[in-house]
Amino acid sequence: MQKHITPDETSAIHHEFSPEIEVGLLAPSPWISPKFLYDPLGSHLFTAITLLPEYYPTNTEKNIFAQYQDQITDAIGIGGTLIDLGAGNCQKAESFFDSLKPSLYLAIDFSTEYLQDAVEKLEGKYPNIVMQYIGMDFSNQLIIPDSIATAKRTFFYPGSSIGNFLSAEALEILKQIKKQASDGGLLIGVDLMKEDSVLMAAYDDPLKVTAAFNLNILRSINYHLGSNFRVEQFSHKVKINHKEHRVELYLEALEDLTVSWPGNSKVFKAGDLIHTEHSHKYTIESIQQLLKNAGFEKTQIWTDPKTYFAVIYAQ
Ligand code: AVJ
Repeated sequence: MQKHITPDETSAIHHEFSPEIEVGLLAPSPWISPKFLYDPLGSHLFTAITLLPEYYPTNTEKNIFAQYQDQITDAIGIGGTLIDLGAGNCQKAESFFDSLKPSLYLAIDFSTEYLQDAVEKLEGKYPNIVMQYIGMDFSNQLIIPDSIATAKRTFFYPGSSIGNFLSAEALEILKQIKKQASDGGLLIGVDLMKEDSVLMAAYDDPLKVTAAFNLNILRSINYHLGSNFRVEQFSHKVKINHKEHRVELYLEALEDLTVSWPGNSKVFKAGDLIHTEHSHKYTIESIQQLLKNAGFEKTQIWTDPKTYFAVIYAQ
């Protein structure tokens, strides 16, 4: 079987995303989808974020995985297919290879190039695991190819990536996962609500790695849209929206400016914002309710001593 599965050959076309980017930029409150954060440089910058002491989610989740590996493995069962949603550098999934012993590892990520490198490095290390990868944007629809056995599928969705979605979108994705997991389940990592100071430090770190990660989206957009954004004309801005239980990332125009691209342009005044990312924070109760609404009947939950983060196996 072919290792790299391309769900749709047209995805190679450079301007595939132009229409949706344009809709966002021309909206009264401009926005860019967070998936464009993860171009090759952006994926590396995100990995750098996960190494920051202020960015607690990655380490907290890692500690939960390590501390409860046996219980998690018992809950899931060994063998079967491990489907990694937003695999990135594949390190989190790898930490389960020895205990879960999957027969197949399917890595899915928006950033194909970064994923390819990661999967190729892993293959040499684990000759007993068949590995495949798909470059796919599953934010609208998740379709696992028929060639992947339906029995014993474990969807792995760590890192609180679910937090990027509005609750209606998250519900939709979780329903699609539930449908395609059949007799398997979902192992998900979810970030929990906590004090503002901890959130601000994590999303506006003093080394400015998160600022670089956020600003890089403008270069990613220049690539996809053929626009002429200048990074130096914007700055990284973080807001905590208590009502909506989320951290919001923006880029703020530092001066009056015009951005143009083939067929259109957009004027920004100093202080205008472009929304780039939501990072929703759940409570144990709210995530359990969401999973229940998506059709998951049974959940097992593991958390850290400060209850900063939750790892859940849902069936
Ligand atoms: C990958 C979406 C979980 O929301 O914490 C990190 C992305 N953005 N710092 C998050 C992110 C800024 C991250 N997720």
